[in-house]
Amino acid sequence: MATYRAAIVGLTGIAAGPAQPGPDPVLGELMPHSHAAAYARIPTTTVVAVCDLAPALVSRFCKEWGSVFPEARGYSDYREMLAREQIDLLSVVTSDHRHAQIVVDAVAASVRGIFCEKPIATTLADADRMIAACARRNVPLLIDHTRRWYPEYLEARRLVRSGAIGSLRRIVATLGGSRAMLFRNGTHLIDTVCLFAEAEPLWVSGELDDEHRDYGPRYAGDGGRDPATDPGGSAIIQFQNGVRAFVNASKGTPANFELDLIGETGRLRIGSHVGEIWRFLDDGLPAVSPLRSPHTTRGDLVAAIEELIRLIEHGGQGSSTGEDGRRVLAILLGILQSSAAGGRRMHFPINDQ
Ligand SMILES: NC(=O)c1ccc[n+]([C@@H]2O[C@H](COP(=O)([O-])OP(=O)(O)OC[C@H]3O[C@@H](n4cnc5c(N)ncnc54)[C@H](O)[C@@H]3O)[C@@H](O)[C@H]2O)c1
Repeated sequence: MATYRAAIVGLTGIAAGPAQPGPDPVLGELMPHSHAAAYARIPTTTVVAVCDLAPALVSRFCKEWGSVFPEARGYSDYREMLAREQIDLLSVVTSDHRHAQIVVDAVAASVRGIFCEKPIATTLADADRMIAACARRNVPLLIDHTRRWYPEYLEARRLVRSGAIGSLRRIVATLGGSRAMLFRNGTHLIDTVCLFAEAEPLWVSGELDDEHRDYGPRYAGDGGRDPATDPGGSAIIQFQNGVRAFVNASKGTPANFELDLIGETGRLRIGSHVGEIWRFLDDGLPAVSPLRSPHTTRGDLVAAIEELIRLIEHGGQGSSTGEDGRRVLAILLGILQSSAAGGRRMHFPINDQ
């Protein structure tokens, strides 16, 4: 069985966080939620190189993961790493607005598969050159909108597709808390809306939170560190198949991530604090039942990386492609543009302003 040589650029928690023990030793570890922990869990992958601008993060990685990845060499310049190492899989885990050039250079350096963190980028021009570079060399690109590999969300989509709530009509999507930032975390919410809407957007109308009413039509953040540079806001997204989504992603509200899927005959609520399905009976009253969360052998980042390997070996359509990531980014930019234009509907296709 071939071993895939992996590398990671950007070495903060989501990239290099240690594996977490399960509730009882008999159960092993929690499902890995860092790229390094996921590579450690997959028998056919090993990490051979890591890179961060901050030397302290590079030495910490080598100290914490040295016994698991003895070969791993540290770099502070990813171009030097790409030039010196033969890399099959690259995890791009740098700041929100620092993904594009690394992906383009990685393709040029013959990397065979790329797992890029979300949001894909912060301009459509960046997203387009990432997607074009990968398509030209047939390099699979997956965007880490993690819920596309969460068992409970795929179970919920299976239920919606099966008609368990009738045909889907409306989605109320809520993100709360001090990090209810559209690009940093709203991107997860909007991508999950798209996961269920299963159609292209037609138009979007948006209103940023008061403290950001003068934010402007372009992303002006610092890559996701300081919430003051990445706005919260509200939006209506109309999809081509008639589904309409109402997005509440405002700071100064309780920490929450939730989708309320409203169909013709029922409702499904899923999120960080809820998982239930409502089936309305003839008497108009709902029968409410808990949403099952299937125990699967794959999930989260392990499932994503194993999918990337399958795409390298057999081709096919990924669960969270560059195009999926671009669709979410276009909606986010549409919200900024609409808010800057007094809430006017922005019709797709959206372009950078
Ligand atoms: N999927 C998830 O659940 C999840 C959770 C947290 C963060 N993220 C995403 O992961 C990415 C990183 O998030 P973060 O909070 O760690 O961001 P961050 O900005 O705090 O850290 C990014 C790291 O990348 C390094 N870096 C930046 N440019 C670099 C370059 N050119 N070469 C080498 N290193 C470089 C920085 O030194 C820093 O250590 C972001 O895209 C974020 O949205 C995803």
